[in-house]
Amino acid sequence: MIELAPSILSADFARLGEQVRAACEGGASVIHVDIMDGHFVPNLTIGPPVVKSLRKVTDLPLDCHLMIDNPDEFIPRFADAGADWISVHQEVCRHLNRTLHLIKSHNCLAGVVINPATPVETLAEVLDIADYVLVMSVNPGFGGQKFIPSTLHKMRQLSEIRSQRRLNYRIEVDGGVALETVSDVVRAGAEILVAGHAVFGSGDPNKDDPRKNAEGLLKAATEAALVKV
Ligand code: DX5
Ligand code: ZN
Repeated sequence: MIELAPSILSADFARLGEQVRAACEGGASVIHVDIMDGHFVPNLTIGPPVVKSLRKVTDLPLDCHLMIDNPDEFIPRFADAGADWISVHQEVCRHLNRTLHLIKSHNCLAGVVINPATPVETLAEVLDIADYVLVMSVNPGFGGQKFIPSTLHKMRQLSEIRSQRRLNYRIEVDGGVALETVSDVVRAGAEILVAGHAVFGSGDPNKDDPRKNAEGLLKAATEAALVKV
């Protein structure tokens, strides 16, 4: 099943509740929340208080993507604030097995993320623990970047490994997902599609319609999934 996870990074934060509700009306079924610390990535975003506020405006799962150096310290706080899914970067976890179990111990789904330069092979020993694997299709840090096509083979690879090893993780993609790229990622095996600019627009008043944008993306994604079958 294909799911759309709008990234609030590109939303108008002064109208966050309204924008999240609009994306939800357009068919979004997960809300993607980008947490950045200014160390692991060259940008700063939000912390647990915003997750707590979001929790009050939507019943959809909150997918917290931690782009921070010390995720273990913050996992309990995001879980308490209302996160349902928490993902951590392979590149910062010295004890990835332990960190994924820590997420699960807080009753959240546990995800592991790989940057464009990180191979799928680095996840071999945790694929049976992860509930989902997030393939970054841009270098993390900013919304509105150009999709990197060379990351597609990692979605295919994850899909093949899942069948071969009879595992259950889901495959998520994040970065540059838009009408022009959505069919490629779906055909490569991505099932949870994160999209920021393509849902919330880029400050362009003509594109400021999250409901319509979400509907359009989901329609294109569903059509690509039908062709794939
Ligand atoms: C980038 C973030 C993404 C970002 C995606 O570091 O992880 O979630 O919001 O934005 P778009 O869809 O605009 O590339
Ligand atoms: Zn993200």
